[in-house]
Amino acid sequence: MKFNYIQKTPLYNALSEIGKRIFLPDGIFYWSGRAKNEAELIGTLGAAYGFEKDFIEGGSSDWVPCYLREITDYSKLSVKQIIPYTSIGGLLETRKIWKEWIIKKSLYSEKEDSLLSRLEKYITTPVITGGVTNGIFQICSMFLNPNDYIIVPNKRWGNYDNIIYKFIGAKTQSFEFFNENEMNIKGLRSAIEKIAKIQEKIVLLLNFPNNPTGYVPKKEEASKLVDMLKESQITHNKPIVVLVDDAYEPYVYKDDVLDRSIFYDLHQLDENVIPIKLDGITKELLIYGGRIGFITIGLKPSWIVDYVELQNLKEEINNKLEGFIRATISNCNSFYQELILKLFQENGGEQIIKSREVVNNLLKKRYDCINAELKKINNPNISIDPNSGGFFVFVNLDSDIIKATEFADHLLKEYKVGIIPIEKLDENVNGIRIAYCSIDKKEIPELVKRINLALNDF
Ligand SMILES: Cc1ncc(COP(=O)(O)O)c(C=O)c1O
Repeated sequence: MKFNYIQKTPLYNALSEIGKRIFLPDGIFYWSGRAKNEAELIGTLGAAYGFEKDFIEGGSSDWVPCYLREITDYSKLSVKQIIPYTSIGGLLETRKIWKEWIIKKSLYSEKEDSLLSRLEKYITTPVITGGVTNGIFQICSMFLNPNDYIIVPNKRWGNYDNIIYKFIGAKTQSFEFFNENEMNIKGLRSAIEKIAKIQEKIVLLLNFPNNPTGYVPKKEEASKLVDMLKESQITHNKPIVVLVDDAYEPYVYKDDVLDRSIFYDLHQLDENVIPIKLDGITKELLIYGGRIGFITIGLKPSWIVDYVELQNLKEEINNKLEGFIRATISNCNSFYQELILKLFQENGGEQIIKSREVVNNLLKKRYDCINAELKKINNPNISIDPNSGGFFVFVNLDSDIIKATEFADHLLKEYKVGIIPIEKLDENVNGIRIAYCSIDKKEIPELVKRINLALNDF
């Protein structure tokens, strides 16, 4: 495949060597497609098929994928749905349904018809990944060479570091996430300035609601953030690729904070602030083990002149993403792709939101409870990070008095309470992440009481 259209966009220059090199060759898919139309006898597909009656007692005369009879005891979905491979980028119907879901999640109103039309036209059809983690891995690999920098907050999900440092060999430019209980936009701006001096692209990773803090920007903070990214892009004249990790997207418990992904506002910018949405069914639809995530890229109208160019550009991007999927995981779990398809087709987005609302309410009560209990602790050696959503709260500990790991060990041994310590003193992080998502509300006061007692031991 030629990449004439993507090469004309700022996206291309931001790609890593892998990103530039990777593509999905015609190979098996080319020959299978041709065989379907042109051949009388087809021997292209690497999956066993047969007449059902030839391998299942009492089976039909249908030509189906060969399967073990016992499989059918465990699913109402037909074997034709759950046995075959899906296409590399995922089942097209599921991908299309997720695109509609992304549009719905923008909460567009009539006032925002430009947002809606831009979304409909200028986002790629999501490709399906092995959970959000795999989407993050793919996109980091597509944009980061070894030794390239990615900007990240100092408080972040630990697995980013496994991907960025240990796997890719890239580097992080971290910035202090908060300044006086607000997002440290100034710090982020300085990090961008620093990287703009040494790199032709800026790659940034944002995650709201955040793991480990539960932070979601207030609406005015979010506008400042978007404005700053826009201004920085204009000043440095380099593409800013923003990886938007939306793993916890629907779990927002306060009214004055951003109630939709920052992806949407970034996509609205005409400047080359290029948002890439990474979301999935794992937390969002509460199917953690389903391992289905999505990568969706926000394109800019200025990159293309007409509809044909737009379609060609989307095809080229899709080919690169599929090339990456093919080379790493080949394709994703078909059962869960079918399950999501059915879930949306038979219930619709509204019903899904309604069912999930019950869980949102449960989590919100725990959120209110843990924040109220933590507030009661009167101890100058701790502080709680601003939090409005997600699954966690983060309690900072004064590193001169208590080291997070030591504290976690003490808490576990003496008070039988398990939390996650995060101790990265070189990034000014020393605290504990409490996953209140998995603690019953009734137990939260006791949990906080024990944390308080443990604090008093230092
Ligand atoms: C911030 C963040 N992003 C992504 C993920 C991974 O999600 P998935 O289970 O879909 O791979 C997690 C899971 O803990 C997370 O906390």
